[in-house]
Amino acid sequence: MSSPINTMLIESRVFNPPKEFAAQARISGMAQYSALCEEAARDPDAFWRKMAESELVWRKPFTKVLDESDAPFYTWFEDGELNVSENCLDVHLNNGNADKIAIIFESDDGSVQTVTYGELHARVCRIANGIRALGYGMGDRAILYMPMSVEAIATMQACARLGLVHSVVFGGFSARSLHQRIVDVGARLVLTADAQMRGGRRIPLKEAVDEALGYEGGDVVRNVVVYQRAGGEVQWVEGRDVWLHDLEQNQPEQCEPVSVPAEHPLFVLYTSGSTGKPKGVQHSSAGYLLWTKLTTQWTFDATPEDVFWCTADVGWVTGHSYIVYGALAAGLTQVVFEGVPTYPHAGRYWEMIQRHKVTIFYTAPTAIRSLIKASEQEPMHHPGRYDLSSLRLLGSVGEPINPEAWMWYYENVGASRCPVVDTWWQTETGGHILTPLPGATPLKPGSCTLPLPGIDAAVVDEAGNELPTGAGGLLVIRRPWPAMIRAVWGDPARYRNSYFPEELRGMYMAGDNAQRDEDGYFWILGRTDDVLSVSGHRLGGTEIESALVAHELVAEAAVVGRPDATTGEAVVAFIMLKQAAPAGDEAETIAEYLRDWVAQQVGPIAKPRDIRFGNSLPKTRSGKIMRRLLRLVAEGRDIDQDTSTLENPDVLKQFSGVY
Ligand code: PRX
Repeated sequence: MSSPINTMLIESRVFNPPKEFAAQARISGMAQYSALCEEAARDPDAFWRKMAESELVWRKPFTKVLDESDAPFYTWFEDGELNVSENCLDVHLNNGNADKIAIIFESDDGSVQTVTYGELHARVCRIANGIRALGYGMGDRAILYMPMSVEAIATMQACARLGLVHSVVFGGFSARSLHQRIVDVGARLVLTADAQMRGGRRIPLKEAVDEALGYEGGDVVRNVVVYQRAGGEVQWVEGRDVWLHDLEQNQPEQCEPVSVPAEHPLFVLYTSGSTGKPKGVQHSSAGYLLWTKLTTQWTFDATPEDVFWCTADVGWVTGHSYIVYGALAAGLTQVVFEGVPTYPHAGRYWEMIQRHKVTIFYTAPTAIRSLIKASEQEPMHHPGRYDLSSLRLLGSVGEPINPEAWMWYYENVGASRCPVVDTWWQTETGGHILTPLPGATPLKPGSCTLPLPGIDAAVVDEAGNELPTGAGGLLVIRRPWPAMIRAVWGDPARYRNSYFPEELRGMYMAGDNAQRDEDGYFWILGRTDDVLSVSGHRLGGTEIESALVAHELVAEAAVVGRPDATTGEAVVAFIMLKQAAPAGDEAETIAEYLRDWVAQQVGPIAKPRDIRFGNSLPKTRSGKIMRRLLRLVAEGRDIDQDTSTLENPDVLKQFSGVY
């Protein structure tokens, strides 16, 4: 991808919010945006107090807003109590919206089911009562390994209703990864499905749960609740396994929400960092909910009249924040989709926007790029062939969106009349941080523009000094915000070291490089660590390396990302085997074998695209692997950099074969 500075020169077009859009928007015009920013900066306490009091229903009012006495372990609204599920469901019933559609669910095969807020509330209550009847309650941890479904959303909400801490594991992770998370979070309950349906294929889930529970320590789990989605045989452990439909049966449709402290962990979501072990990012209840609701309303300018569609999976933070919590708290009608964008054809997304009259569409650059390619190959599925006139706003999330893809999205999907909000945020930030406000911010393709009100973001050097316009450096957030990560589950030291390094004197370090332009706009340059983004999925290079070296054939491995026009990055593994580097057919066979191994250890999403074999890895004299050089090799570029610090300069030549 070209550097953002060049991008800025090439793409200097600025798109102002359409007048009609700005006229009706919740935050309209830059003056209103600036006024909100100033209000928040002048008296943060008063600002957040006002927001928390007006947006949330409290069971016990809070008195104190932010406690910084134990920084960086911040607490928000600490002495207040509420229930997240009550704020997402009961509030709408109490406002006479029981019959409003909450979810339009479209399954992989195209069948559609609508669920009202009243029905969703009843479902959540029945599931919550069933979970309680099994003996689980406040503070217990539940792992979810479920397909995109009404049931997944209802189950997460049921956990929130009882004060259970949920941890959702994306269905693309393997039994090994699932096991690691079950043990780390200490889950006694697992909720899963027999299988998931994606692109016409049946992908077993319960089978992976059974395997995971068979590994050491997996016996902490007492019950497995199984949603029957796909039918067919599943293995059954009597006394442990329960069908979801049996769990719900005969349960009352009312379940009093449990009052939890504002800081009670709503969920733990595992994400990749710079070590081999994923981090359990722990979020709070009140602060998280406040920010996801507010940002749903601000960034998407969403109102209850909208039909909102976020294409993310509930296994990732976007699904948590903008499907399960933000959209429901804001009382929206939303589309939830089980399948994939290209099944049964490349026009599936456009057909669904047309069918459900979607007004706000939020997806990932990788999906946009793959649909650009697909619509070139299958012109009958070009978005221009569908009636997308219901759309009024488009969003992008998860990775940098290149200006070309931005323009295609803007012109072909949004017919040059829908603002595009490029939202920068992370699992750790809980919700949007840098993003345009569609009724206010002039857009520049490729930039996530400016911080939201209440967010103090900056670009600094390694000593924490703010950098001038155009200089690349570390992206930081200088003041705490309500939805920020509260802890790395069970590892306070890792929380402090990963996000609040001493040199930065209390600033939150995002792990991204960025720079600002002359208008103060932020341009994301990529990660500072070896975290990769493949099809918008965050993967740890070190995690994949650990999986590779755990294989008996492998002596050493280094994993880097190489830019890919569709998936953003592709995983490239440089491998030194215990035997001499193979070539030809033998190399093909071993590479295929190692790919399958990574799929088993981490998940199919982490399979290396390219594998390259050598008899050693390029290292400095102090033994550090030179990933910088490997990145160049992975991209097929000439090594024009100085390699004199390499202990073994010839090694790079060996990696020419790609398997
Ligand atoms: O590098 C940034 C990239 O995705 C990382 C966060 O990944 P994850 O925790 O999985 O959350 C993804 C969904 C919010 C960031 O550190 N990233 C996310 N959004 C953008 C982005 N990079 C550029 N532009 C974005 N809009």
